[in-house]
Amino acid sequence: MASTKPPQKPADQCPILTIPVLEHAKAATLGTLPDGFAAHTKTDPQTGEVHAVAYSYLQDNVQHIVIDKTGRVVRVTEIPVRDKPMMHDFALTEKYVVLYDLPVTFSLDAAKAGKFPYVWNPAHEARVGLLSREDSSDGTRWFPVEPCFVFHTLNAFDDGDGVCVDMCRYAGRYDVSLLTGPGPVTLDRWTIDPVSGKVALRSLSDRFFQEFPRVNDRVISRPHRYGYTTSFKQLRDHVIAPAPEAGHSSGNVLIKHDVQTGAVEEHNFERGAAGEAVFAPASLSAGEGEGYLMSFAHDLDGSKTDLVILAAQDFASEPVARIHLPVRVPLGFHGSWIADR
Ligand SMILES: [Fe+2]
Repeated sequence: MASTKPPQKPADQCPILTIPVLEHAKAATLGTLPDGFAAHTKTDPQTGEVHAVAYSYLQDNVQHIVIDKTGRVVRVTEIPVRDKPMMHDFALTEKYVVLYDLPVTFSLDAAKAGKFPYVWNPAHEARVGLLSREDSSDGTRWFPVEPCFVFHTLNAFDDGDGVCVDMCRYAGRYDVSLLTGPGPVTLDRWTIDPVSGKVALRSLSDRFFQEFPRVNDRVISRPHRYGYTTSFKQLRDHVIAPAPEAGHSSGNVLIKHDVQTGAVEEHNFERGAAGEAVFAPASLSAGEGEGYLMSFAHDLDGSKTDLVILAAQDFASEPVARIHLPVRVPLGFHGSWIADR
């Protein structure tokens, strides 16, 4: 008897790292994952719930997926969208899932031509959506924003009736296949006001080409003070091709932001391009900013990789440790850390 199961959704794949997450996710969710999964998930540090937003060119809906502490999918909410937009990441607050429905959408023509199958689509309205975390049916409220694309979220949190979303934003006609566009990448904040329906945009930093934003994972979905980003242009230019975007790059640095005061510190890598920094708390009771940042520093000639550890509260100083790895780690952008407990 033929199976009636719908076609398997492909896993979201980071365009640079090509992360094969589907099989891993299926194993991790004990067979309860209905279709595909996502490149980026958010774990609520208070509840232990894992949230994901899955999209596919095979489906007109995207899925909000909730996984409980036992590793089982406990809720899947189907959210209708038009044009099959690329949703590489999303944001999570205590109350909401924040969806990025932006004008980078699936293109069969690009796929047939052997190109990256998601392209800038000026006919697709740019909007962000608020879905209650507890909704099991689609009750998403959508709010228009300026045309842009967002790969990665720093963090988000509820602020009264509103929602603040900090993210790296690519303004204008953005080409995801080349990671380039008419404007530089900026670290910005959307403040969504569900009452007025307005989304206010403000810049969090005057430094361009920042990407791979991280906070201390203990504050995901709750208000944060500190954020960490990586300078992006040098590594992007090396991996893909030199891009002519206007504006200055911060060079080859990790950047620490205090979003309450606006203070910025940089750790300059004289040798090696820095990858995404992962925050490790100093102790179980440590405050948000007390801990260490871990990042790969790649020699761009591909010869060596160091694991560099910075003290978060002495960010610009010499690293606490620079560990020369016995193997070369291929150039990449993202980073993760799994504690040995
Ligand atoms: Fe990513």
